[in-house]
Amino acid sequence: MDYDIIVIGAGPGGYVAAIAGVQQKKKVCLIERATEGGVCLNEGCIPTKTLIKTVKLADSIKKADAFGICGVDASKITVDLEKLQARKKAVVTQLVGGVRGLLKGKGVTSLHGSAAFKDKNTVIVDGKEITAENIIIASGSSVFMPPFIPIEGNCDVITSREALDIVKLPKKIGIIGGGVIGIEFAYIYSMLGAEVLVFELMEQILPFVDGEIAAMARKRLEKNGIKFFTGAKVKSINNNKVCFEYDGKQMEEAVEQVLMAVGRSPSTEGLDVQKIGLELEKGAIKVDGSLRTNIPNVYAIGDVNGVSMLAHTASHEGIIAVNNICGHSETMDYSRVPSCIYLEPEIACIGLTEAQARESREIRVGKFPMMGNGKALVEGEVEGMVKVILDAATDEILGVHMYGIHATDMIGEISVAMTAEATGEEVINAIHPHPTVSESIMEAFMAAFGKAIHWK
Ligand code: NAI
Repeated sequence: MDYDIIVIGAGPGGYVAAIAGVQQKKKVCLIERATEGGVCLNEGCIPTKTLIKTVKLADSIKKADAFGICGVDASKITVDLEKLQARKKAVVTQLVGGVRGLLKGKGVTSLHGSAAFKDKNTVIVDGKEITAENIIIASGSSVFMPPFIPIEGNCDVITSREALDIVKLPKKIGIIGGGVIGIEFAYIYSMLGAEVLVFELMEQILPFVDGEIAAMARKRLEKNGIKFFTGAKVKSINNNKVCFEYDGKQMEEAVEQVLMAVGRSPSTEGLDVQKIGLELEKGAIKVDGSLRTNIPNVYAIGDVNGVSMLAHTASHEGIIAVNNICGHSETMDYSRVPSCIYLEPEIACIGLTEAQARESREIRVGKFPMMGNGKALVEGEVEGMVKVILDAATDEILGVHMYGIHATDMIGEISVAMTAEATGEEVINAIHPHPTVSESIMEAFMAAFGKAIHWK
């Protein structure tokens, strides 16, 4: 065999797996047909957050007067989209360079090209055969264009990919899908000044988020001017009109541009997975808890296995797959994968929602509003709350949901606590620094026992 491990795809799943492999003294070859960093770094997480940073900063500058800063004429604040694109590109380029440097420095062999299976130990990259004991597929996902929403006539329909490259703001945009992509772009476009309509099939935007938190975020986004149609089934797009079923009626809304954001599909195209008899389920590569496919030396991590399409899930799965290749016996626990949504303020959640938890047991819920947190007031952003859900009998942390400033940075604390199987009481006993927004987490746990200090 040429290598111990071949990794197909250099996104946050694949490049992390490759590095984890060489760290365990394996000879690793990483194959990528596009750019290192994958969707996350090149056309997903990182570029979106760069756009979000700019719209947030512009908004903060507009509020300068309230913070005692003079000389800012809020009416003159605009965003130069060309300059924003240049910054986005610079951020991405620097990070891609960083990933390339890491791979080289750590001794991963990188190959540029498209990989296809010949047999369970051999892949062909641009005509060249490469063999390995183990293969990790980390080929990611692509935008799902729903066949059930036909696009007819003359339409300007874009996906998140084009939305990220925005240089000309549409006056009115219709966003199909009120999931994470739809809502983050609704926020960006509305902050840039576009009229935004969001069409979501479910009754709640961000359907996987705790209902109370999602409702708070919706209210705030509505204040930004976004119009939501929830429980709305988009049937087609016709000459830039979004045609949908709403409240038993057939309706349409004319827009200048449509953003399609109804999910992503696992990418197995060109891999010739059928040659090795790899089992798929709804287009995703089927894996067990150890990330093994039905072919024991072939693993699938990240979006391509369709379990949890998040960059941090992919990276963690990559490490677990490599550990299993190296003889360990580890399984992936999806019950404590944090989820972050970058709005103003931010949403971050982990574990069960209140409704999910209630289905199976007696629970204890604690809530603490950001209004009661001194640091949030200092920051000028007191909207939101922390909600914690505990097992009433055992004090196990079942879920934590936050809507508030710095929420995405704070959820890591809960991820550690849940992984360490800390109880609610143990989080309360951990001294939280003052003044920080993180005190609101401790207070929410205290509130679950009726003992919040800084709220009634
Ligand atoms: P999604 O699955 O999160 O949301 C798609 C939404 O479209 C759903 O709420 C669904 O009910 C709705 N929908 C489906 N058919 C519809 C119809 N005919 N009419 C109206 N609404 C309809 O998919 P999304 O937002 O495209 O994201 C794809 C993946 O990328 C997700 O797994 C997401 O977690 C991940 N992602 C994560 C981010 C983050 O963590 N901050 C950011 C962006 C993406």
